[in-house]
Amino acid sequence: MAPKFDPKKIEKLEDPKRLKIFNPDILFKELGLNNFKNILDFGVGSGFYLPYLAKILKPEGKIYAIDLQNELLEYAKNKSKKFKLSEKIEFLLVKEKEALPFSENFFDFVYLAFTFHELDNPDFTLREIKRILIPGGKLLLIDWNKKERDMGPPPSEVFDYEEIENHLMASNLKILKTFKNHPYVFIFLAEK
Ligand SMILES: C[S@@+](CC[C@H](N)C(=O)[O-])C[C@H]1O[C@@H](n2cnc3c(N)ncnc32)[C@H](O)[C@@H]1O
Repeated sequence: MAPKFDPKKIEKLEDPKRLKIFNPDILFKELGLNNFKNILDFGVGSGFYLPYLAKILKPEGKIYAIDLQNELLEYAKNKSKKFKLSEKIEFLLVKEKEALPFSENFFDFVYLAFTFHELDNPDFTLREIKRILIPGGKLLLIDWNKKERDMGPPPSEVFDYEEIENHLMASNLKILKTFKNHPYVFIFLAEK
């Protein structure tokens, strides 16, 4: 739908102002997201959310961070070293519209932030996410809303609420909770 994120603009992903959109610690707590064994950060970008995801991991748990742009993966990898998280995170380069390199029923949490509007084939990706989630495993999908905003891509490049809802329903993921009226984003918590 929209062009892929331009790695030259990586500082936008690292902008602390992003924490004003939502604070991941507070959101995860509010949604009861904690104590996961295997987390997938789908479209990891610069790795902005990795330190927050690490906090909701079991001590023996692991984060798998995927992206289709090597430059971003390398940046996120270096960042994870800085945060002393290297041992907990595996970074993998993936290709659009190819099956994800994970077996079915593997993840208990998939985090898909600000990436849905960049997917070439959202239904394919959601089917893949459903395949690799364990029964009861959760997907947290967060993406820009279609309002005029002072941050993020133009509204014409993102989905409206009903479109995301329809894609989730088409993939047979069960929607548990949504935030529809947030000033910047739509948030969907879904379950396999
Ligand atoms: C706007 S950035 C968001 C990065 C990160 N999730 C965040 O919120 O800070 C979107 C990221 O998704 C990646 N991406 C887009 N389509 C993808 C796909 N099909 N598979 C994996 N990564 C993808 C892009 O390369 C980019 O790094």
